[in-house]
Amino acid sequence: MTGTTKHVHWASKWRCPSNIALVKYWGKRDFQKPMNPSLSFVLQNAFTETSVELLKEGEQKVEFYFEGAPSAFGDRIEKFLHTISKQMPWIHKYNFRIHSHNSFPHSAGIASSASSFGALALCITEIDFAISGREPDHPDLWLKASEIARLGSGSACRSVYPGFAIWGQTQLFESCSDEHAIMIYEGIHPAFYGLRDAILMVDSGTKQVSSSVGHELMNDHVFQRARIGQAHQNINELYLAMLTGNLESFIEVVENEALSLHAMMMTSNPSFILLKPNSLELISRIRRFRERAKIPVLFTIDAGPNIHLLYFKKNELDVKAFIERDLLEFCEDGNWIDDRIGKGPVRVVASPK
Ligand code: DP6
Repeated sequence: MTGTTKHVHWASKWRCPSNIALVKYWGKRDFQKPMNPSLSFVLQNAFTETSVELLKEGEQKVEFYFEGAPSAFGDRIEKFLHTISKQMPWIHKYNFRIHSHNSFPHSAGIASSASSFGALALCITEIDFAISGREPDHPDLWLKASEIARLGSGSACRSVYPGFAIWGQTQLFESCSDEHAIMIYEGIHPAFYGLRDAILMVDSGTKQVSSSVGHELMNDHVFQRARIGQAHQNINELYLAMLTGNLESFIEVVENEALSLHAMMMTSNPSFILLKPNSLELISRIRRFRERAKIPVLFTIDAGPNIHLLYFKKNELDVKAFIERDLLEFCEDGNWIDDRIGKGPVRVVASPK
């Protein structure tokens, strides 16, 4: 955090990871509140790095550069700043210069809105704490950043913590909230901190269902009530499996969630089929390998055709050999991304100019 040169009043820079949901957020209520609770973990290698500089006092103006060039995403950011200015009125007083870049290619099919809004929320919350005289290491910084991130993109509120996070009210903890995510770590079986995520790229060109369209599909969905009930039950079972190290139950719930998300999309109006023949081939090969090799491998899927193959550290060599031998031929140009559970966001110290 700096209040540096003559022109820059305040500045902050953060690196924030993307995350992958095991229990899926699908459907909203009110403003950016989830229809059901979700549980995710952050990735290590897929992240966004963002710097925010407040240049001068005056009417609010936003310059947004993505990978060095002015970007249309600036409009969404402007809207976002307007939304959060209700809580942080100083926002209207400054000119913003924001630079952002991702560690992963756009075509990777990794949701960049989670890491982007996560990083931006961390920068803005840190500046807010500095302006209001609070310590930058104040424990409330994380909750506040999570809440602010949620207002930009729901899944982003789960990206500001290391490891696993839950967003949305549940029967699990009283501290679970629709307003922000909470970190979960106490009592989680150590095997889960060795989670690996091989992102198998099936089709980088396929348009994902935009999140605004996607979530709206749940508003009048014939299975809405059942889906909400299922997500609550799944999050309870998943958390219990994570405490006890019950891999069988973990696998059952995670795959059920991924397929339920797609079932919701297939049965909504309008309906979307985002899985490709190769997605299905990968799913069935993953299941067959699990049965034959007796190695715990499983899949989860976002709102797109790519398959996230999850596995555990101690099986790394066997699973990588399986990917090379049996799966890459079903990936677009043999592409896959080697990622794992991550340590969460980091503050980037600005280099002296
Ligand atoms: C399928 O967080 O992208 O990835 O709040 O509209 O920005 P907005 O939606 P977004 O939705 C993510 C949906 C999902 C499941 C999940 O990450 O939980």
